[in-house]
Formats: sequence, structure tokens, C-alpha cells
Amino acid sequence: MKNYLVTGGAGFIGSNFVTWLLEHHDDCRVVVYDKLTYAGNLNNLLSHRDDPRYAFVQGDICDAKRVRDTLKTHAIDTIVNFAAETHVDRSLTDAGSFINTDVFGTYVLLEAAKELGLERYHQVSTDEVYGEVLEGAADEQYPIHTRSPYSASKAGGDLMVLAYHTSFGLPVTITRGSNSIGPYQYPEKVVPLFVTNAIDDKPLPIYGDGLQARDYQYVVDHCEGINTVLQKGQIGEIYNLGTGTETRNIDMANLLLELVGKPKSLLQYITDRPGHDRRYALDVSKIRALGWQSRHSFSQALEKTVRWYCDNEWWWREIKNGTRYQAYYQTHYSGREVAPPPEN
Ligand code: NAD
Ligand code: DAU
Repeated sequence: MKNYLVTGGAGFIGSNFVTWLLEHHDDCRVVVYDKLTYAGNLNNLLSHRDDPRYAFVQGDICDAKRVRDTLKTHAIDTIVNFAAETHVDRSLTDAGSFINTDVFGTYVLLEAAKELGLERYHQVSTDEVYGEVLEGAADEQYPIHTRSPYSASKAGGDLMVLAYHTSFGLPVTITRGSNSIGPYQYPEKVVPLFVTNAIDDKPLPIYGDGLQARDYQYVVDHCEGINTVLQKGQIGEIYNLGTGTETRNIDMANLLLELVGKPKSLLQYITDRPGHDRRYALDVSKIRALGWQSRHSFSQALEKTVRWYCDNEWWWREIKNGTRYQAYYQTHYSGREVAPPPEN
């Protein structure tokens, strides 16, 4: 029997990972440890409420005592850390929360894992630590070149994880995943924001010229990749996780409008994100050598995602109708409209 602590398990990828674990491993118990920030949502975990293999603890990863007590109470042997502040735009106005959770919180978890002698500490990280990759693809040796407070904080967390391995022999692994899409993603990230706006005939705000490229992968593929590293990864190693393909934002937006059945006139260009990374691209040969490969192409991932949001209005309408979300949207998007760039 494996006992997992999934920190940040009430968020987007964390909750999909919990579902994946419980569906694929009978011999595990899963404790979700989550602060329930604006991005955490127990509706993501509703289907597990009555599963005796699942438990939820509300807590902050920066709270060393609560972390230790939870690890001891539930006899945890493996931590999979998804807990983080995750939205680049928010990191531009509130870097402190990112440093707190993504760097200090990671340190708190590492200390606890060391003290209690856990079997494994896995850090869920991001391709953003490589910064924008204007040519070719970044492998795991590619230099860290962070450009936003979010990516700098994630890189800080990664470096601390590697330091605990080198200095104390802590059995760690790290995955650096690309942009994930799928069910239960908070509608501030581009794909759920665009689908839900399109359903409501609201504009899709395109930053800058819309020609930035991302490797959009289906969230279940991301979860399976993390599991592959937990099962077969080498201790102390980093693994990139993505499809190895790229899509420009404007092409993603056009396909999304087609899938929802809405006109291109909904595209609204707005001022660019400061320091916007132009392109991310990952070399995924290291994880492929472990036998993992993403099972969904970009268009399959987008189609499944769009269908889920169309079928699950109960989930996102509650968020989008909330005053917290509406205040964020107003502050972040109002007054930024610009004319479309000439080439589009
Ligand atoms: P999310 O924002 O949807 O969820 C984050 C979760 O962490 C929330 O449930 C939140 O309540 C919780 N949390 C935040 N601060 C906490 C704290 N101090 N203590 C405990 N819980 C806290 O995030 P996501 O998109 O699911 O990302 C999960 C992880 O994957 C993050 O570490 C992120 O950096 C990484 N990642 C995300 C993507 C992506 O495309 N979304 C891609 C690669 C890597
Ligand atoms: O690459 C992995 C990362 O992907 C994760 O580590 C982050 O947690 C996750 O938020 C995501 O970061 P991005 O900044 O790439 O994702 P976001 O959804 O915010 O934006 C994707 C692209 O879409 C990016 O080029 C900016 C653009 N965009 C975004 C928003 C919110 C728009 O054009 N309009 C928007 O309104």
C-alpha cells in the first residue's frame, strides 16, 4: 500500500492526478493537502468524497507543523507537490505570494520529507523555467533562464529540490511540464477562459500579436507522465513532459472558436503581457525513453477540453459569477483593447 500526500490536489492538474491514481492503483491511499486558494476547489474532487482511500486536509504548505502532523497521521511515504501559485499574470502584480508558496513552501515540504525519511519527494515543475526558447527545443540540461516572477519562483523551488538531493540524499524527482489543458482548469488560463467566453459570446482577449507558441498537452497525459516518473524515473533526475509539438495562440483560438461554433469576430486583440515569453519548446526524449508518450494530439486535447466545458457549465459558472473572479477580470482586462495587427 502506497500512501501519497498530493499537495495542491484541489487544483487543476493535482485533482486530475488524484483521480488518475485512484482509478489506476487499488493499492494506494491519497491524502490531498491544499490551502484552497482562489484556484483550489473541492468540486474538482467531488467524486472521491466517499472513497475510503481518499482524505482531504486543508492546510498551507508553508505551515511546517501542519505538514509534519499530516505526514505522520497518515503515514505518508510519497509527496507529490503540485501546490503553487501558478498564473503568470498574477505574478506580475503579487510576486510575494509566489515566492512564499513556490519557494518557501517547497523548502518546508523538503525539510519534512528529510526529517521523516520519506521514500520519495516529487516536484511538479514547468517548462517555463527554461524561459523563452526561440529556436530548437530545451532538454533537461538547457540553462534556466526565467523571465517572470512565476517562473523564477518555480526555478527557485526546483533548485531547492536538487539541493536536498545533493546535500542530504533526499530521494527526489522533478517533472517540467508544458501548458496543460482539460477539465477543472481555473478560467483565468487561456484555454478555459476562451472556451467559457466563447460560449457566452464574449470577446477572446489575445495578447500582443497572438503569434506566441505553446506546447498544449492534455492534462491526463501530464498525469500519466508524472506517474511514469514516480514508477520508473531515476532518483535525482529531471524529466521534461510535453507533446514535443507547438501551436500559436491565434491558431489555438481559431480552432477553439470553430469547435464551439462561434465567429472569428469574437477575437479581440489587447495589449501584450509584460515580458511575454514568445515560445516554449521541449525536448521530451528523456521521458520517452521511460516508455511514456502523450496520447493526445493538440487538436484531440482541445476538442476534449472544449467538450468538457460545454458539458460542465455548473462547474465554471459558479466561479465566473463570483465577485472575486469578476473583480480580477475587470482589473486585468479592462481598457486594454487594441487594433488587430496588420498580418492577421
Ligand atoms: P492551480 O493553480 O490550478 O492549482 C494550484 C493548487 O495549489 C490550488 O488547489 C491551490 O489551492 C493550491 N495551493 C496554492 N498555494 C498553496 C499553499 N501555500 N499550500 C497548499 N496549497 C496551495 O495549478 P495547476 O495548473 O494545477 O498547476 C499545478 C502544478 O503544476 C503547479 O506547481 C504548476 O507550477 C505546475 N504546472 C502547471 C502547468 C499548467 O499548464 N497548468 C504546466 C506545468 C506545470
Ligand atoms: O508552460 C507551462 C505553464 O503554462 C505553467 O507553468 C503555468 O502554470 C500555466 O499558467 C501556463 O503558463 P502560460 O503563461 O503559458 O499560460 P496562460 O494560459 O496564462 O497563457 C497561455 C498563452 O496565452 C500565453 O502565450 C499568453 C496567452 N494569453 C493568455 C491569457 C490568459 C492570451 O493571449 N490571452 C489571455 O487572456
